[in-house]
Amino acid sequence: MKVTATAPSNIAFIKYWGKKDETLRLPENASISMNLSNMNTITTVEFSGKYKKDSVIINNKRNKKDKERVIKHLNRIRKISGIKEKAKVVSETRFSIGTGSSSSAAGFAALSLAGVKAADFDMSEKNLSILARQGSGSACRSIPDGFVEWLKGKNSKTSYSYSLYPASYWNILDIVAVVNKKKKEIKSTKGMKNAKTSSFYKTRLKRINSKIKFLKLFIKNKDFVSFGHLIEAEALELHSIMLTCNPYLMYWLPNTVLLMHLVRLWRKEFPVYFTINTGQDIHIIVEEKNKDKLLNKLKKVKEIKHIFINKPSKGARLIKNHLF
Ligand code: DP6
Repeated sequence: MKVTATAPSNIAFIKYWGKKDETLRLPENASISMNLSNMNTITTVEFSGKYKKDSVIINNKRNKKDKERVIKHLNRIRKISGIKEKAKVVSETRFSIGTGSSSSAAGFAALSLAGVKAADFDMSEKNLSILARQGSGSACRSIPDGFVEWLKGKNSKTSYSYSLYPASYWNILDIVAVVNKKKKEIKSTKGMKNAKTSSFYKTRLKRINSKIKFLKLFIKNKDFVSFGHLIEAEALELHSIMLTCNPYLMYWLPNTVLLMHLVRLWRKEFPVYFTINTGQDIHIIVEEKNKDKLLNKLKKVKEIKHIFINKPSKGARLIKNHLF
């Protein structure tokens, strides 16, 4: 059967950084995110006896490394569903891959949903999230709708994501400013392996549950200023861990830092905050009512190559238009 799914990328407000089980992708801590309306992946999967081997085409290219990771995921789907046939996978991502915009989250969420349905298997949202997590940790947060919590869990069955609030709950935007179209050098999977070499990592884990509690409260109350302060501090904490691990990681480029300074300056006029993942791009978070004010500011920054304006979005879902 041929099935197509779309899934959003998501931006983490409390970040996932460090695994306690590498193979199962069990995180050291819980995390909280928002799905992004304008950064998504579309994936078509077909299992059929006519295919002699699995084939994987991502953005019109066949890349060996991506293919291996996708085939591992197809094997998980085959194991769960019992389907034996080989598959063709075609996937398209509408945003820059590997620059800090969590393309693997959208990719593995869409692949999980399309793959399971193409195998003619039914799965609960929870189990889909568990499956997506094994492809890429952050992908488990792209399955449910809107604002999402990924529970740390004790084992594979208890580490999954669920929706805290639907996308319509809060009118905030994530405006992603792309400052360089080059790929980051060290991917998240590799980068987070060294997290524990930072002497600050233990302190981070000690404080994380209280941070999560506060963030959930601020989202519940739609308290944008408290929310903004917390997510910006959290992003800086993540990057402090990166900068103090061995070997250290530095994802910021000069233009990332330029934007960080500008956001602080603009904050004198209206509430606006930033967060950054593994990459140079900066996610600028603003209330919808201040969108135009922010866009007017961004227009004047010639260092920005591209922007993506994201509202909170639904999670992974099936669509009718197949890619092949
Ligand atoms: C900084 O989910 O890409 O974006 O599980 O190894 O595929 P793997 O890592 P990935 O890491 C995301 C790291 C982050 C923070 C986050 O999204 O929570």
